Formats: sequence, C-alpha cells, structure tokens
Amino acid sequence: MALLEVKDLKMYYKVRRGDVKAVDGVSFEIEKGEAMGLAGESGCGKSSMATTLLRLLPNNGRILDGSIKFDGKEILDLPEEQFRQDYRWQRMSIIFQGAMNALNPVHRIGKQISEAIITHENVSKNEAKKRAEELLEMVGINSERYRNYPHEFSGGMKQRAVIAMALACNPDLIIADEPTTALDVMVQAQVLEAIQSLRKKMGLSMLLISHDLSVIAQTCDKVAIMYAGRIVEYGPSTKVYNNPLHPYSYGLLSSFPDIMAPRSPIQSIPGSPPNLLEPPSGCRFSPRCPLADSKCFTDEPELMAIDGKNHLVACHKAGALGKVGEQS
Ligand SMILES: Nc1ncnc2c1ncn2[C@@H]1O[C@H](COP(=O)(O)OP(=O)(O)OP(=O)(O)O)[C@@H](O)[C@H]1O
Ligand SMILES: [Mg+2]
Repeated sequence: MALLEVKDLKMYYKVRRGDVKAVDGVSFEIEKGEAMGLAGESGCGKSSMATTLLRLLPNNGRILDGSIKFDGKEILDLPEEQFRQDYRWQRMSIIFQGAMNALNPVHRIGKQISEAIITHENVSKNEAKKRAEELLEMVGINSERYRNYPHEFSGGMKQRAVIAMALACNPDLIIADEPTTALDVMVQAQVLEAIQSLRKKMGLSMLLISHDLSVIAQTCDKVAIMYAGRIVEYGPSTKVYNNPLHPYSYGLLSSFPDIMAPRSPIQSIPGSPPNLLEPPSGCRFSPRCPLADSKCFTDEPELMAIDGKNHLVACHKAGALGKVGEQS
C-alpha cells in the first residue's frame, strides 16, 4: 500500500470572474521511503497541489472532488481538528515556498524550532531544546548556533533551518516546495545533499516541487510533470528525463542546459501558460504544441501507459515524439 495515494483530486480557487482550476483531476502515489518530483512552469498549480495535500487552503480555495489517502486512510473525510492533531506536521509536513524568508527575524533560530516542537508535542522546554539542537546538527548546522538570529545565518543555512523545522515532529512524508530555488548552485547542492541524507536516515518519503527538472532527476525516484492543473507525464525520473514522451516535458527539458552535453542553443517553449479560469479545450497544451492536430484541440487525452507500465503520458501524439527532437 502506498503511503500517499491521490486520486482525481480537484481544487479550485473562487474568484470574481469564476473558478481558477489550479488542481484539476490529479492522481499519483508515493510509496514509503520514495521521493517524487513535481515539475512544471510557474503558475501550473504545484504549490496549490502542496497546500491541498495539507488542507492549508486560503478562504477561496475549495476541494471539489477526489481522494487523498494517507497510509490507507482517507484524510479528506477527517474533521479539521483530527487532521491537525494526527496528520499535519506529525505525519506529513511542508517546507513552504520561500519559507526561509518567513523565519521570524526577532526570534533565535533554535527557539523557533523548539517552539514548533512544543506546539505539536507534549515535551518539556529542555527536551524540545535538545531535540532542536539535534535537528540543527542533522541538517549540518553546528548546534552552538542555536542562539543565532536569522540575520546571522546565510541563505543556505536559513533554508536548512527551515528543513529542520519541518522535521521537528518526525513526519513520514515531507513536501518541499522549491526548497533550493533561491540559492546559488553550490549551496543548492549542499541543501539537496542534506535532504538526501536525512531521507535515508529517517526513511522519509518526499514530494519535491521544483521547476528545475535536473534537480528532480538528481534527487527523486519518480516525477510528475504538471501542466495547467493536470499531470501530463508521470514515471521513473530517469525514464522521463532520458526519454520524455510529452511534447511539453520535452520542451521543459530542453529549456535547461546540460553542462555535460555539447553546447547548443537553449530552447524555450513558445507561447505562455493558459489562463486557468478558462483552460483550453481538448489537450491544454494544444495551443502551444508543435504536433497538435484537430483531435488535440477537442479531445482531452487520458494519462496512459506507453513506454512500460510505469511510464504514463497524456498525449494523443505520444508515439510521434521523436519528430519533436528531429525538428529542433
Ligand atoms: N488564493 C488564490 N486565489 C486565486 N488564484 C490563486 C490563488 N493562489 C494561486 N492562484 C492561482 O492558481 C494558479 C496556480 O498557482 P500556484 O501557486 O499553485 O502555481 P505554482 O505552480 O506553484 O507556480 P510557481 O512555480 O510560480 O510557484 C495560478 O494561476 C495562480 O494565479
Ligand atoms: Mg509555487
């Protein structure tokens, strides 16, 4: 049984002009100890997916349909009180996008971590402090820096402190929303390493959100590519990275340079992501797709196995993809 099983999940934001269909029929699974990446352009619904899983939605966000099972239990049916007590932070926690900038500037780092522990667990101040120090060491920060303020930390250290905070209650699943985006490449590598070794040590499952597919390929067992509120490709990261089947994934991959490959111009995907108030009919990528024909504009493709049973793609043209490569 998967640790997290998401099926046909829909979450819309109500705005004056209608519904923003940010998560629109999404299904995936994360096994115990497994890391899944979620990639896609800005605004495709990645953070919305994350906040939906933790039921931390703004007032105008509504879950319309679908199921989220955690360890076999449907969490959408639980009363908020029970979800907060037994699941949020305890079993699944999140590193919010931009979280390192949300550290409270007037409180000591260590204190912020131990407060997080005290809020959720029935422990003494001293025990919480000891655990916070251990957590700092675990993410590679000397516990003597417990008494530092956020401004005394570098960006990478702040980000690691935020990771420590998300681990405060020993969760089974951690959702990391762009945990390295604001960092330079060297520090990004250090933070990713810290996450990897923690995962191994603690047997953590992870959902890693990033617009950068190379970060996901380095870190995750499998990946879901999201476009306009839907998953368009899903499979083992090496398969998706080496043999993308959806024209959008292909474009997304070619928009990141590979330092090992011969130099070639960076490709970008023409056009811009659709408005999620009124997504295009048929395949949502069709207006930007070099392969689209009339069927693509009218019929929405299902996510289906093409290249082995664990590599799924939602594209009427998935078989013809070699041609995209030849064109570029
Ligand atoms: N509270 C809200 N009310 C209305 N629309 C929202 C709200 N929050 C997000 N949206 C819209 O939902 C869509 C998905 O946003 P989301 O933040 O999930 O994207 P994202 O994939 O995380 O992007 P990024 O890579 O920039 O972080 C966007 O069109 C965004 O404008
Ligand atoms: Mg986001």
